[in-house]
Amino acid sequence: MVENVGGIEALLQEDRRFPPSDEFRNQANISDPNVYEEALRDPEGFWAKFAEELDWIKKWDTVLEWDPPHAKWFVGGKLNVSYNCIDRHLKSARRNKAAIIWEGEPGDRQVYTYRDLYREVCKFANGLKSLGVVKGDRVTIYLPMVPELPIAMLACARIGAAHSVIFGGFSAESIRDRIDDSQSKLLITADGGFRRGAIIPLKQNADDALVSPTPIENVVVVRRTESADDKMVAGRDIWWHDLVADQPMHCEPEPMDSEDMLYLLYTSGTTGKPKGIVHTTAGYLLGTYATAKWVFDLKEEDVYWCTADIGWVTGHSYIVYGPLANGATSVMYEGSPDYPDRDRFWAIVAKYGISIVYTAPTAIRTFMRWGEEYPQRHDLTSIRLLGSVGEPINPEAWMWYWKNIGLEKCPVVDTWWQTETGQILIAPLPGITTLRPGSATRPFPGIDAEVVDEAGNPVGPGGGGYLTIKKPWPGMLRTIYGDPDRYVEQYWSRYPDIYFTADGAKIDEDGNFWLLGRVDDVINVSAHRISTMEVESALVDNPKVAEAACIGRSDEIKGQAIVGFVTLKDNVTSSDEVIAELKRHVATKIGAMARPDDIYFTAELPKTRSGKIMRRLLRDVAEGRALGDTTTLADPAVVEALKQQYGDDE
Ligand code: WTA
Repeated sequence: MVENVGGIEALLQEDRRFPPSDEFRNQANISDPNVYEEALRDPEGFWAKFAEELDWIKKWDTVLEWDPPHAKWFVGGKLNVSYNCIDRHLKSARRNKAAIIWEGEPGDRQVYTYRDLYREVCKFANGLKSLGVVKGDRVTIYLPMVPELPIAMLACARIGAAHSVIFGGFSAESIRDRIDDSQSKLLITADGGFRRGAIIPLKQNADDALVSPTPIENVVVVRRTESADDKMVAGRDIWWHDLVADQPMHCEPEPMDSEDMLYLLYTSGTTGKPKGIVHTTAGYLLGTYATAKWVFDLKEEDVYWCTADIGWVTGHSYIVYGPLANGATSVMYEGSPDYPDRDRFWAIVAKYGISIVYTAPTAIRTFMRWGEEYPQRHDLTSIRLLGSVGEPINPEAWMWYWKNIGLEKCPVVDTWWQTETGQILIAPLPGITTLRPGSATRPFPGIDAEVVDEAGNPVGPGGGGYLTIKKPWPGMLRTIYGDPDRYVEQYWSRYPDIYFTADGAKIDEDGNFWLLGRVDDVINVSAHRISTMEVESALVDNPKVAEAACIGRSDEIKGQAIVGFVTLKDNVTSSDEVIAELKRHVATKIGAMARPDDIYFTAELPKTRSGKIMRRLLRDVAEGRALGDTTTLADPAVVEALKQQYGDDE
């Protein structure tokens, strides 16, 4: 059963339609609707044609080898991702075009042309080599949103080392887990990063993560905040600027096999342990290149801004690889949207003449709450297309975005995808698709998506079910790092040879997909994936806690908020101090984004007779709803007591 269907009735009554304007269609990169049918008839031919637009050292022999659930794309091909994102643009006038426009939170700014990017990436790649990093190694990157972050990623790609980027909000313990799992030998970090005027102590977190034994041999430190000059560890740490100072500015790109690993990115699943999602070279590059070009209608003259953090997959695919493979200008902003004031994003749009904005519904809902006066302070007429990602967008937020940011003239592309999919899989093609507020509309050409019931049968128009993908696609994950069984188990075991997304969805009469949220134990908080198990293990790690269960309840701004139900040990009394302590404990264990919004105390957790925690009932309690079916409860009094305690004041 698909549980997480809040708001679907409202969604299905949503009947506004926005066909592309003639003006947009006439200039669009793709405007021929036949592309869908052609791609469906011959998906491999479709992707192969796109792949001709990349630069190959050696062309592939076979487009796809599909030995379910293992796919190999462009088998026999050789190429280099950093070459495709940088060097090939140097042959034309693009060489002096801005590749990255970066703005720091304090207001500082740097612009890297493609030629600049080439030089910096090559120098750092040579620096990596000088530290003994070789093809096949893993390198962990724990940086704020500074230009050195994409430079480090591209330098890894250049020499064939796989990067593992960790979002700057993660704690020392989370860093340590990820380093241990990937067995990285090098860590790249910064002394700190700016956020809302304060300094995030990244170097301190990194140092705390590196207690021995650790596979890390060296730490490269970017000097950003000048806040850790006294923390450099002799023999282990080296400043970025010292490392690159005398490096040559050319570095031959390593010829990589299509299926060589490009990067690892850890994400939350249904167990407490994050999974290292493995992406490879050719398919991933192609998937991000093609979708960026068509979904965002990327053009030579665009100034494109994805507001995500590169620590998440959205930043990997649509700040770094997709846009740069297209030779686009990609904007990066270091800080918070309300620093120094709530109009910072719109000031950035006006300042750089940004034409494409890609952000998350949670940000849009925050802007809605702040009010229209902030975007109205700035000239937003340069914008021609808007994108949304990370969680379902409610029609009200879609309309607000369309009206107040797009000024009623820009298509809004709602893009559905996952860390695992690597690339956008469901989204409009803005020159073709009639938009529906709240719907990601249609699968990208070549993507075969279906909504099925428990037994795997297609549910047909109007019915709700599980979103599945029936054919492999180039950017798909290849495995879970070090855990191939879990890859099969997690994604390919519910329906044989079909990818299980763990998202609920509905298809309407016109074939539009409406995403309904996760159907597993993943909570989506402000478009960040957090597993209930991770938060539960962090809670029970506190000596005061006997047992804990977590759920996501719906939240007007964040999409979902984390609620922990906690049974304290016998000798501990519940109090506001304990609540504060437990919230703090989770933030220290995992990172601030996993801090529970509410903690409820309960003498017992509602369980089935077989001992399984009934999270559905906890959700009912947290959301103040009438309780669903309680017949399988071992002890109905438990949930009644909870309801009495907390149910009514929600
Ligand atoms: C959710 C982020 C509805 C979904 C790219 C998915 C969405 C999870 C959308 C992946 C969307 C992402 N509409 N839901 N447009 N985009 N999601 O791995 O539940 O951080 O499974 O990747 O976010 O999150 P992840």
